[in-house]
Amino acid sequence: MFHNIPSSILERLAHLEAVDSRDRQDGTPKAQRLRQIPPETGRFLALLAASAPAGQVLEIGASGGYSSLWLTLACKERGDQLITFEVDPNKVRLANETFAIAGVSEMVQVIQDDARNQLGKFQAVAFCFLDVEKDLYPPCYELVVPNLVPGGIFVADNVISHQDQLQDFLQSAMSDARVDALIVPIGKGLLVCRKPVRL
Ligand SMILES: C[S@@+](CC[C@H](N)C(=O)[O-])C[C@H]1O[C@@H](n2cnc3c(N)ncnc32)[C@H](O)[C@@H]1O
Repeated sequence: MFHNIPSSILERLAHLEAVDSRDRQDGTPKAQRLRQIPPETGRFLALLAASAPAGQVLEIGASGGYSSLWLTLACKERGDQLITFEVDPNKVRLANETFAIAGVSEMVQVIQDDARNQLGKFQAVAFCFLDVEKDLYPPCYELVVPNLVPGGIFVADNVISHQDQLQDFLQSAMSDARVDALIVPIGKGLLVCRKPVRL
């Protein structure tokens, strides 16, 4: 998966990394920034998504399509399409531009909407990555976790960088009997939850 990444994908990843880093330094307002995951998180997500069982592959919060590109590496191996949700029309445009330039448009469907309106339609979730505003973590979690297939994986970003804000959410996820959960110190901290194959 990582040994033959097409140059079109590598170049677009590098371009988005440069834009995100420039915008973080030059005072670009938060709403306009890409707020991407770091590359090591992308690699970890791709490994997890490639290892997930059969089912749907979802992402909540596409931004400019950076984390989505990592997930397309897994989708290529799985033979699945990535479904990614993004509410901001400017980010949707940028994400679609990313997928066209990287040559993966047919592997990704971007749904322009508040993910909370859409998630209930996905009833066989193999993998879901959550990376939006932190007050949306509990409702998104509750819309996805009941629909995980056995062995399905749910991952949420920023759980170490925003641990104060996410304290109640994390406590409840870590003690949720429907999943086995762990906080992994990669990037800004990932909550990784897996639905056991047998309870
Ligand atoms: C932190 S950024 C995502 C970064 C992206 N995962 C990456 O690493 O490239 C969060 C994104 O979630 C989007 N967003 C916020 N609320 C949303 C919602 N309710 N449904 C879908 N997208 C949402 C924002 O517009 C923003 O682009």
